[in-house]
Order: sequence, then C-alpha cells, then structure tokens
Amino acid sequence: MKSSVIIAGLLSAPAFASVQHVLQSVLRTSQSAKPPNIVFVITDDQDLQLDSVSYTPLIQRHLQEKGVSFRNHFVTTALCCPSRVSLWTGRQAHNTNVTDVHPPYDPYTYSYQNATYQRNQDPPVSYEGQHTVDVITEKALGFLEDALTGERPFFVGVAPIAPHSNVDPGALGQSGLVMSAPIPLDRHRNFVSWIRDLPKQNQSQIDYNDFFYRSRLQALQGVDELVDALVTRLEESDQLDNTYIIYTSDNGFHIGQHRLPPGKTCGFEEDIRVPLFIRGPGIQAGVEENSVTTHIDLAPTIFQLAGIQPREDFDGTAIPLTPQSKATRHEHVTVEYRGKGVAEGTFSQIGATCIRPWEVLHPAEQVSSLRDALDDQHDLFYHDLPRVSFDWCDDGYLIEAEGPQLTQNHYGGSWDIWV
Ligand SMILES: *[C@@H]1O[C@H](CO)[C@@H](O)[C@H](O)[C@H]1NC(C)=O
Ligand SMILES: *[C@@H]1O[C@H](CO)[C@@H](O)[C@H](O)[C@H]1NC(C)=O
Ligand SMILES: *[C@@H]1O[C@H](CO)[C@@H](O)[C@H](O)[C@H]1NC(C)=O
Repeated sequence: MKSSVIIAGLLSAPAFASVQHVLQSVLRTSQSAKPPNIVFVITDDQDLQLDSVSYTPLIQRHLQEKGVSFRNHFVTTALCCPSRVSLWTGRQAHNTNVTDVHPPYDPYTYSYQNATYQRNQDPPVSYEGQHTVDVITEKALGFLEDALTGERPFFVGVAPIAPHSNVDPGALGQSGLVMSAPIPLDRHRNFVSWIRDLPKQNQSQIDYNDFFYRSRLQALQGVDELVDALVTRLEESDQLDNTYIIYTSDNGFHIGQHRLPPGKTCGFEEDIRVPLFIRGPGIQAGVEENSVTTHIDLAPTIFQLAGIQPREDFDGTAIPLTPQSKATRHEHVTVEYRGKGVAEGTFSQIGATCIRPWEVLHPAEQVSSLRDALDDQHDLFYHDLPRVSFDWCDDGYLIEAEGPQLTQNHYGGSWDIWV
C-alpha cells in the first residue's frame, strides 16, 4: 500500500456538540471542551508477536506508557490492501470485495531510497537518495503544521512503509519483483538484536532470518523518531492533551516460524496480531487492555472519538478505551484471505453471518456465545446443519467458488444449490 499522509478537517463544532454527551459517557475523565484531534500512524508489516515494539523506546514512552495497549488486536486479513481497506471502511474483506493486492500501484512504493509520493492530483514526485521514512516524517510534520494553524479539529494519517521489505523495481528480473530486507536509515545501521533459535532451519537460513529481523528493527527506528517528532510538535503547540494518537500496523509478520520464509498473509498469530496503542483525552496512561479487537473496529472507534454516528454498514464496533467501557466485545475474530499463500491462510466464509453468527443461527433463542451454543439442547440442530466442504480454491473472491452461503439460504434457495 502506498505510503501517504492524509489530512482532513474532520467535523464542525455543532456536529460534535450534539453527540458530546455520548463521548463523555465513554471518556468520563475527559476535561476538554474543544473537539479532539486525531493522529493515526500505521506501519507496514509490523509484528507484535516477534517483539518489535521492545525496540522502539520512543513509541513505548509516548504511546504505550501514556495510553492503552491492546494485547489482543487482530487484523481481519493479513495483507496490506485488503487489511487497510477493511480498516478504513470498518468492513470485512468479503464485504468490501478488496481481498488481495492488485496492480496498478506505484512500483516505487517500497523502494526505501527512491520512494514516490503524490499529493492529490499532482504528478508523483520521486525522492531518489532520500530515505522514505525521513521523507514521510518531513511531510507529516508539514501537514501537522498546516493543521495546527487552523481552528478546526484535525485528522492526520501517516503511513510509513517501514518495516516492509525493500522492493527495487530497477532490479526487476525474469524471476519477478526483487524484495530484499528493509533498508535502515544510516543512523540506525548498527542497531543490534537477536532472533529466536530456529532449530529446523539450517545455518544459512538462520543467518538470513537474523539479518532480516534486524533490518526490520533498524527500519523501524525511523518510525520511532517520526512518532517522537509528531508528539513533540503537538506538545509544543499545546494540542497534545487534546489529540488522540492511534498507532498500529496493517498486518503482522513471520520470519522462520512454522518453517516459513519471511512473509505474511497467513492466519497464524505472527501474521494477524499487531500492535495497537491509543493515547488521548480521558484515556488512562500505561493500561493494558485484553479485549479482543480488530481492524474493522478502528473506523467505528474514530467515529466515536469524533462524535459521529456509526455507519449502518460497519461490520466492526467501537473498541473500549477505558476499563469502565461497557461495550460488548466480539467473541471471535474473522480472519480471511483469498490469494496465493499457504493453505493455513485461507478461511471459508458464510457472508455477514460471521460478524454476529448467533443471531443468524439462533434467531429466536437465547444463544449469545459459543458456550451457550454448546449446550446439549442444540446438538440435534447442529447435527442437521450441512457440512462445509469445497472442491477448488480460487485466488480471489468469487461467490460461486465460496461454500454454502447461509444468508442466501434464508432467501429461499435450498442447500443443494450451495453445496
Ligand atoms: C461486492 O461484490 C458483490 C458481488 O458482485 C456485489 O453485490 C457488492 O455490491 C460488492 N460490494 C462492494 C462494496 O462493491
Ligand atoms: C527513481 O524513481 C523514478 C520513478 O519515480 C525512476 O524514474 C528513477 O529511475 C528511479 N531511480 C533509481 C535510481 O532507481
Ligand atoms: C541451507 O538451505 C538452503 C536452502 O535449501 C541452502 O541454499 C543452503 O546452502 C543451506 N545451507 C547450509 C549451511 O546447509
């Protein structure tokens, strides 16, 4: 996904005032009368499971220690484009139809030393010889400066490409795209780390994984400084206490786990569990939240913070930002992926029913959790349900290639049509 900085005047003061009481019930300790700002930072391929956050001390100090850290935050598709589209729309990939990465996109997106950026409809500009994280930091601070001079609350989104691997379109050979380890900023070249033992892999592979892991941490150092620069500027301008800062990644990453080479797209913990930190007015500092949350909850959360009514088509729900939040959480996470990758990354879907399955399976009954559904009285019901199976797998979202569509069945079709 293209690195980008976006900014928008988010809402007018009257719109905020009309729903302010809702916000206040969620964020009881909020002192501020002025509508809050939102700064959203999303890294690319950053893991939680492999401990990358431990190596970004500024992010720990400014975000983890000053806000709430979500220990169980998951993406709903472990691949950039579908994940980001789900994040910004609050909808699962099978509802956005963006289920994979497809051209056209700028081939220099992931070129660390020659990134290409485009503003609105202006021609793209390439920054040969400059590190992409330095470029985006400068641009983010520029947008922030514009935002700070205005009267209205603002939203700034910053999407650095680190620690995604480096893609060099200049080295395009017969074997396709060349993706190498991420390239650190010069000032972080000597940053050291360790990697777990990978007993099933030979020494050259371990060395390579170690190199790859260290390169990712080095690439993240620039993001650490980017966050520091944003926080410092907000603090100088007296806006820090009135700004929510959200930090996350588009998907996680594995390096050698499950004997896989570096990569993502799978349903494994390494790929789907990502960092999520939120600090801002009314949010307690240094709190860990264990509720299960996902990327499709972020757009609803931003709407709630901004005092906007949720959209009807959101699949997600606003996440709890204070320990007192009463919001009902999802009981499960729907992770999906259609495309090239290992079999473990492919999950079968049954339409919108995967968001609130019990309402569809037991419309008239008091079943609201897996525990309720396991009660003996429902055994016969489940025994009679059709078994799910599939004959082929396609690299895309093709409804005819999907398994039984329970929601469709409610429109009158028999199971024979679907199985
Ligand atoms: C996704 O595709 C389905 C089937 O073609 C279509 O009905 C639906 O409107 C599409 N959704 C979006 C958000 O484009
Ligand atoms: C840098 O990117 C531009 C395209 O944006 C390309 O024309 C140019 O050749 C690239 N430079 C190098 C050294 O790859
Ligand atoms: C390890 O395995 C890789 C891939 O099969 C091979 O290229 C490499 O030579 C091996 N290295 C050692 C030290 O056995």
